Amino acid sequence: MSDVEGKVALVTGGGTGIGKGIALLFGRQGMRLALNGLEHAWSADNQYETAHIGGYSAAQAVAEEIGGDAFAIDADVADEAAVEAMFAQTVERFGRVDVVVNAAGVITARPIAEMSETEWDNIMDVNAKGTFLVNKAAVIQMRAQGDGGRIVNISSVAGKFGTATLTHYCASKFAVIGFSNALAKEVAREGITVNCICPGIVGTQMWTLLNDAFGEPGETPEQTYARFIEGYIPQGVPQTEEDMAELALYLVRAPHVTGQAINLDGGAAL
Ligand SMILES: NC(=O)c1ccc[n+]([C@@H]2O[C@H](COP(=O)([O-])OP(=O)(O)OC[C@H]3O[C@@H](n4cnc5c(N)ncnc54)[C@H](O)[C@@H]3O)[C@@H](O)[C@H]2O)c1
Repeated sequence: MSDVEGKVALVTGGGTGIGKGIALLFGRQGMRLALNGLEHAWSADNQYETAHIGGYSAAQAVAEEIGGDAFAIDADVADEAAVEAMFAQTVERFGRVDVVVNAAGVITARPIAEMSETEWDNIMDVNAKGTFLVNKAAVIQMRAQGDGGRIVNISSVAGKFGTATLTHYCASKFAVIGFSNALAKEVAREGITVNCICPGIVGTQMWTLLNDAFGEPGETPEQTYARFIEGYIPQGVPQTEEDMAELALYLVRAPHVTGQAINLDGGAAL
């Protein structure tokens, strides 16, 4: 029997990519899972270039794959009422929340002079404000339970150094790290840990869509991706969803690691 068996985890962005990888490993450990995704966004300023982002359908499919009592919740992490309802649904189903992983995120790539105010707002809303709202709800719930908790926020190497055309995204990911470190100190005496995982490059749908934005004339998407791995990742290979899941599981088990922003990036950032 796993030491985390039966623990209740809420994973935002749990239907795809890194969130899905974490959900699948947690599921294999016997954790009870609420998987968040968003079906329709308020803006098309994201990597999908459409407001229909399909995150809820994806989360439903992952919940079915995991089986048992795993279930999906359609909620926008940037909407406080929706986040509160998401926590209420999880508590109604499982009675408590032990672990929150915040993997929802959006990205675009745009030179500063062409970046619109709404594009900036949307990236900051989902990545930075979404982290605030999900963490706030998590702390309120965990505090009420009175026996600690684990919060894992997915930042990025883009929260450690800048990349041209990602000013908004880097600002949002730096914000996630500062926020998490401050919150970790605020709740340290309550047994709630707050940490960030900073992935380098993971070949999720986010990257598939970014390849178009980053592509140089005449380059195939595969060549763009390979160029970024070569240029950014000292080990010369991408990281995987499974890498992120193993670190997330470690953080769930680690009572004395808090306030950290841990790079899992093949040597890219300090
Ligand atoms: N893939 C990488 O190389 C990489 C590197 C560093 C950091 N990250 C971060 O990892 C996290 C997961 O990204 P991914 O690579 O798995 O891509 P992804 O596109 O598969 O995952 C993002 C998820 O967020 C969900 N989402 C978007 N807006 C939402 C909203 N408003 N409310 C709720 N859910 C919403 C999407 O439906 C999707 O499931 C993101 O925060 C991303 O910034 C990814």
